[in-house]
Amino acid sequence: MNYKTLLKQYESLLIGKLLPDMANTSAFLFENIPNLNWVGFYLQEDDKLFLGPFQGKVACTTIPLGKGVCGTVALSKKTMYVPNVHEIENHITCDTNSNSEVVVPIMLNNAFLGVLDIDSPVIARFENSEDIQFFEEIIHIFRRTQQQHSSKQS
Ligand code: SME
Repeated sequence: MNYKTLLKQYESLLIGKLLPDMANTSAFLFENIPNLNWVGFYLQEDDKLFLGPFQGKVACTTIPLGKGVCGTVALSKKTMYVPNVHEIENHITCDTNSNSEVVVPIMLNNAFLGVLDIDSPVIARFENSEDIQFFEEIIHIFRRTQQQHSSKQS
């Protein structure tokens, strides 16, 4: 299925509530994107990221800001693609099957919420610029839906 169709399907899944939408986002990506071994959220609380809803093997529960790819993105607030995680020192190995990864930051109402972490067993899995754009678009839709929901409530 192509990315455009997937984005439409994804949008119709969301209800504008954080926990169910994070749970379904990880399930949706894990089910529809080939060659992934782990997809999920890490959410910031004080100086750490804590494990959120995910699909894949049991993972690290806490990541200090600045540590690993997720902790780096939490500080830079910029999407990071690592084609080969074994080539960088600042990588936390949760699942030894992971060889490449993309981490996308999530800003909600001008505050940093956390990151979406997408891991693949394939080296350089996300070489196509459309891959990274797709994950950023997923987060764009996710944020918009949460923000629409919170503005309806206030
Ligand atoms: N890959 C991450 C750690 C989290 S797990 O892969 C689920 C990192 O180095 O930030």
